Amino acid sequence: MESLEAVVSRALAEFAATDDAAELERAKARYLGKQGELTARLKALGSLAPEARREAGARINEAKDRIEAALAARRAELASARLEARLAEEAIDVTLPGRGRGRGSIHPVIRTWRRIEEIFGSIGFDVADGPEIETDWHNFTALNQPENHPARSMYDTFYVDGHDAIGKPLLLRTHTSPMQVRYARMHRPPIKVIAPGRTYRVDSDATHSPMFHQVEGLWIDEDVSFADLKGVYTDFLRRFFETDDLRVRFRPSFFPFTEPSAEIDMMFSSGPLEGRWLEISGAGEVHPQVVRNFGLDPERYIGFAFGSGLERLTMLRYGIGDLRLFYDGDLRFLRQFV
Ligand code: FA5
Ligand code: MG
Repeated sequence: MESLEAVVSRALAEFAATDDAAELERAKARYLGKQGELTARLKALGSLAPEARREAGARINEAKDRIEAALAARRAELASARLEARLAEEAIDVTLPGRGRGRGSIHPVIRTWRRIEEIFGSIGFDVADGPEIETDWHNFTALNQPENHPARSMYDTFYVDGHDAIGKPLLLRTHTSPMQVRYARMHRPPIKVIAPGRTYRVDSDATHSPMFHQVEGLWIDEDVSFADLKGVYTDFLRRFFETDDLRVRFRPSFFPFTEPSAEIDMMFSSGPLEGRWLEISGAGEVHPQVVRNFGLDPERYIGFAFGSGLERLTMLRYGIGDLRLFYDGDLRFLRQFV
């Protein structure tokens, strides 16, 4: 029969020869498993005399110990080799320059929004926020534009599924003027507020986009006049454009919710449209019926309102000839305002 020493050497050689953990376990089974060579020798001890059995048993157990020790050592070697390999695979070169993340910047129209809040905030105007999905009543009827009023045709808009409490369709607001009604019905005079936000119309060209921003202004008290409108608005423009040298005109116009009404134009002082007029705002003294819709007595309360386009103010400030540039997402354009 092969000597125990030879079996141990064979086992150790097989363990050393394999790099594969599963193969190592199969080799172990060939010696120490239920059908293994050493197990078989231990089973055969029963046929020996007690003296010889003890001696042979001790030698087999010693051989088993050596094989188990070699197995444990080889398992540890293979495990650390696997770890090394994984670490090498996942290695990070910490000396490479970082990829970094762009810092981003504020969109020029949002910058205008913030400046407007700052300027009006500094002269005591509250800032209010309201829904972009409006009821027909707030957007039109409360502003003297009942159904079938011809002025509605200038404000085609997007309707959404769903109805208000009186069964009228909901719509994307065409202007921020419904905020006059919402705010005035929740506050007592003096009412002094601006309401900037998104507005929507079926419009698209160099000076109109389907989604755009307006800021509504409203000042209602016992004696707020059209002259106050001119003073406050001109002062706002001087601070917004950071110059007193502005070409501004108040042009007579019509809105069903103001009387008298005006539109406010400004001349480009730079850019491709230099020397051309651009309308920036509608404005006027709030119509007595609208004051009544605020829940106030028009014999006592009077004041002005305006609604200005933020894209238009931004175009004039930076000399931009086409407002669609604001929404193309072209970083070459947007980076200029960082
Ligand atoms: C109105 O929307 C009135 N609600 C303004 C108003 C408020 C009048 C309070 C009286 C009292 P108008 O349709 O003119 O008015 O729009 C006001 C401003 O919004 C315009 O002067 C322009 O600056 C801007 N604007 C209008 N439509 C667009 C558009 N499609 N894209 C970009 N800006 C627009
Ligand atoms: Mg207009």
